[in-house]
Amino acid sequence: MAQPLAHPLIALQGVAVRYGRVQALADIDLHIAPGERVALVGANGSGKSTLLRVLHGLVGPSAGQVRRDAAQRQAMLFQRPHMLRTSAQNNVALALWLRGTPWRAARAEALAALRRVGLEAIALQNARTLSGGQQQRVALARAWALRPAVLLLDEPTASLDPHAKREVEGLMADLAGPAEPADGGGPAVTMVFSSHNLGQVKRLASRVVYLEQGRAVADLPVHDFFNGPLPEAARLFVKGEIG
Ligand SMILES: Nc1ncnc2c1ncn2[C@@H]1O[C@H](COP(=O)(O)OP(=O)(O)OP(=O)(O)O)[C@@H](O)[C@H]1O
Ligand SMILES: [Mg+2]
Repeated sequence: MAQPLAHPLIALQGVAVRYGRVQALADIDLHIAPGERVALVGANGSGKSTLLRVLHGLVGPSAGQVRRDAAQRQAMLFQRPHMLRTSAQNNVALALWLRGTPWRAARAEALAALRRVGLEAIALQNARTLSGGQQQRVALARAWALRPAVLLLDEPTASLDPHAKREVEGLMADLAGPAEPADGGGPAVTMVFSSHNLGQVKRLASRVVYLEQGRAVADLPVHDFFNGPLPEAARLFVKGEIG
């Protein structure tokens, strides 16, 4: 079903997360609209992973509200993918089976998803023996196979070599699809990803949220984030990261 564009897929209002004495997030207002590609940037410990976990419902806010359509499919890609000690194909198929797809159909869909990420040839290889980049792609295939409306990715390319990084980035761009979906193509996947790589943010994001000590101190269209005036801390961060 097409969603009206203005209707947010996820809406956070005044969200705070506390871990004991640590205020991981404070006063976050964030609406994620269909088709957006939101990059979360900020220093280590600024709250990016925590925010992704809140968006995925893995962490409940200690204050504020999170609204999400309960029927909406979401998938999250963690920085270090968890691979079960079985074939790549079974790793993907199991995720589908857990969602209720019968096993034979799940195996077939898993193979199609691996083909999509260019890993058909290693479908039967034990996933634990795959390289880090290959595992990341299997994890992406697994997330994509679930046909999520929203895909959350925590530093999806942080541990990859330049070649694998380009491949995973290309895949993310493909999965997100064109801004205006072609006929029959279905709506693009909405993405929220964290990254320390500002080049990647420029290439993939439509919008950038800059976090500092748990607060979203800038939330701008990607062009404005890189070209417009920024709060001082965000400006220094961008300057430091770009060098
Ligand atoms: N499970 C937890 N228990 C206690 N403190 C936590 C927990 N998870 C995160 N924190 C703290 O919350 C703050 C935000 O952490 P978070 O992992 O969200 O940052 P981040 O922006 O993802 O950092 P990085 O760039 O290093 O991945 C940090 O101070 C961190 O130490
Ligand atoms: Mg993190």
